[in-house]
Amino acid sequence: MVVVKEGNAAITVRKPLFYNPEMEFCRDVSSLAVVSIGAEGGKLNVLDAMCASGIRGIRYAAENSNVASLLLLDSSPDACSLAKKNVKANKIKKAKVVEDEVNHFLFCTPKPNFDLIELDPFGSPAPFLHAACYSLRNKPRAYLSITATDTAVLCGAHSAACLKNYQAHPIDNEFCHELAARILLGKLARTASAFNFGITPLFAISKLHYIKVFVQLDVGAEKAVDSMRSLGYVSHCAKCLNREWRAPMPAHLACPACKSQYEHAGPLWLGQLWSKQTVHEMQTLNHARNYKGKLQIDSLLTLISEELALPPTYFDLHKISKRLGVSAVSPDRVMDALRKSGFRASKTHFQTNCVRTDGKIGDVRSAVKRVLSQPRRA
Ligand SMILES: C[S@@+](CC[C@H](N)C(=O)[O-])C[C@H]1O[C@@H](n2cnc3c(N)ncnc32)[C@H](O)[C@@H]1O
Ligand SMILES: [Zn+2]
Repeated sequence: MVVVKEGNAAITVRKPLFYNPEMEFCRDVSSLAVVSIGAEGGKLNVLDAMCASGIRGIRYAAENSNVASLLLLDSSPDACSLAKKNVKANKIKKAKVVEDEVNHFLFCTPKPNFDLIELDPFGSPAPFLHAACYSLRNKPRAYLSITATDTAVLCGAHSAACLKNYQAHPIDNEFCHELAARILLGKLARTASAFNFGITPLFAISKLHYIKVFVQLDVGAEKAVDSMRSLGYVSHCAKCLNREWRAPMPAHLACPACKSQYEHAGPLWLGQLWSKQTVHEMQTLNHARNYKGKLQIDSLLTLISEELALPPTYFDLHKISKRLGVSAVSPDRVMDALRKSGFRASKTHFQTNCVRTDGKIGDVRSAVKRVLSQPRRA
């Protein structure tokens, strides 16, 4: 047993069984997302449904004044006794620990009163989304904070598993990490819709081996239908790198640019991945905290604030240069060239050496060529 310090909590852990230090960054940004909801004034009853050592929930309660109560749940008796110890050591008075299987607990609790459910399973969160939405059914507004570590499945390395777990086709291509987040959100939107909830993603990231999404659920038939209208397909040409997206069906079967067969990903979420206000709040709040990853969080949020209003998918400059048979170009110079031609452009947190823009593949190709024809300024 060792004691680790993260954020405002000091936790006894049993590495590697109930604690993964690689996820500290994920817990940091999640805690910021939790407190950013507080800007609206409401207090939250939080369920950390797969709590392990309890570190996530305990941090949310210790760091954020908008957490009214905390329930830590785990099916492992060892995890629960560790979580109890940690609740006591961190003097979290508003917390309780319960040993149960998450779906059993969520379906069988007669009058659930959670505002935020944290789902952080080993692998796919898909088997837990239904019970989570069911247990929030009496709330006009609620939140889900979800981590998926089955990134290989969502990114298309195991497309049959993606079809089975998310009822969606992935594509293993240069923007597969964004597609992964959109497939997860698409699955959540469909599940939530059956409970009369529309979804608004407030925050989404892909990092290391995980996808993290933080989502607001609002009750209402119209909101649920609106969410369903944000589902569609992204089609991608592996030959010329052209791409299109459309709801509810794929735009074309073949690439209009080069006539090659398109690959299609979906159904997936085509709406926004981030709320501008949430990202802004998180950035301000991060400045006031002293997380170990403070600078890294700031860079991530800055990147996201630049990409958040741009359309789905990004262009991999390495792939484009290779197709053109030219040397590598700097994303900054390509962005500059795109902006000079009247397009918007940003980098993306999903992948280095990529550019997100409202231009098409032909516009990005032209920008790359223009950059290479101009001498680099000293
Ligand atoms: C990835 S760990 C959670 C890590 C923790 N949230 C953290 O940040 O350190 C997953 C936890 O979920 C628990 N678990 C797995 N399946 C479960 C289920 N169906 N119901 C309840 N707990 C479950 C495991 O015992 C394990 O402690
Ligand atoms: Zn093509």
